[in-house]
Amino acid sequence: MDKSLKTESFRGFLSGEIVIPPDKSISHRSLIIGAVASKQSGNKINIKNLSLGEDCLSTLKILENTGVKIKRLSDRELELDAKSAFKNPDEVLDCGNSGTTARLLCGLFSSLNEFECEFTGDESLKKRPMARVIKPLSMMGAKILSNDNKLPLKIEGKKLNAITYFSPIASAQVKSAVLLAGLNALGVTKVIEPYLSRNHTEIMLKYLGAKIKTGKDADGFWTTVEGNSMESKTLEIVGDISSAAFFMVAAAIVQNSKVLIKNVGINPTRTGILDVFKQAEVLFSILNERTVSGEKVADIEVRYSPNIKPFRIKGDIIPRLIDEIPILTVLATVANGESIIQDAFDLRNKESDRIKAIVEGMKAFGVDIAEKKDGFVVSGNGEISSKAIVETHLDHRLAMSYYVMSLINKKETVIKGFDCVNTSFPEFIRLAEKLKQF
Ligand code: S3P
Repeated sequence: MDKSLKTESFRGFLSGEIVIPPDKSISHRSLIIGAVASKQSGNKINIKNLSLGEDCLSTLKILENTGVKIKRLSDRELELDAKSAFKNPDEVLDCGNSGTTARLLCGLFSSLNEFECEFTGDESLKKRPMARVIKPLSMMGAKILSNDNKLPLKIEGKKLNAITYFSPIASAQVKSAVLLAGLNALGVTKVIEPYLSRNHTEIMLKYLGAKIKTGKDADGFWTTVEGNSMESKTLEIVGDISSAAFFMVAAAIVQNSKVLIKNVGINPTRTGILDVFKQAEVLFSILNERTVSGEKVADIEVRYSPNIKPFRIKGDIIPRLIDEIPILTVLATVANGESIIQDAFDLRNKESDRIKAIVEGMKAFGVDIAEKKDGFVVSGNGEISSKAIVETHLDHRLAMSYYVMSLINKKETVIKGFDCVNTSFPEFIRLAEKLKQF
């Protein structure tokens, strides 16, 4: 079956209102932390508005395989019962395309006494580095066998000892893996990171009553956690700003567009894109701010922005927009000058080598882009008119970025392997079609 998507040039505009799907990072955490809280409290936990993307379903299936009972109450609402979890699974646990599943569960499972399991994943995930979690977890005493620090992994869980870990990178997956292991370790576990990465784990643990503290000092941003009993509380998940980002940029660059995106998480560790929008003079408003299960949320309106300025992204903003760099590159192509993205080496370790893949994809659209070790330089000129054939390399964020690019391409675009959008955003095309007006 040909899984390519072919689009002709689009002569209309985008208009209307959409509700964005639930946040993927928070959804993974609601399943994992929800299961731990359910086990500790002996009560069931309800999750409202869970992401149904393939990544979160990988986490869900793995938890079911370890004895967590999951009842579907309605479309996106579940009830978790982990009273009799966590049991040794009788099959290899498949993390699919999801780095968050593999790394966070590696933290939790390696801290469970006498728990044994094996992880695998798809071709993209099998290439991604796991040393970043194996190293700190081994320092805590974990026993993890790997294929040269890559999947497949074998975990022999045991009681771990708390450590203080200076993470060399600002990675929420590393921080979360160590904190989840710390929930079952002897003593107080501390993680220090150079910049603040997304803090959904900390917010959820605090919300459920775990013993967790956060702060900043000369060493960096620190979090401490120690074992105690969490409460059972309903977890409601806000919309994903990383999914909203595709429509935010599309509305800014397609002439005459105006789009209202409802229920978008605006946790400050995720809103680097809004800082870039200010730099680039994108026209947008934040409306109806509120808090849901400890997370900030709002509606975001974006209007066509005729004078997009070039922008520069580097340093501490990188973890706040790491997943938005592919779509921000699309924004850079219409800016009137040179945009520079640097300090983003870790993009090479995502679902694809995103630096290499973006440069290759943008060149296919005729964009003037130069690859650097830790980023790239894009010279915008506003006019995209190339018959483009691009590869997604099993990377959902590239697929959706190329789709947005196709909206401003005056010629035909073919996106190969487009179906990988299902990883995070199965409703993407339906919502895009809803907004398209002719
Ligand atoms: C995620 C953290 C980020 C992000 C990924 C999801 C998470 O990765 O790129 O899509 O849910 O913790 P790193 O923590 O490796 O930067």
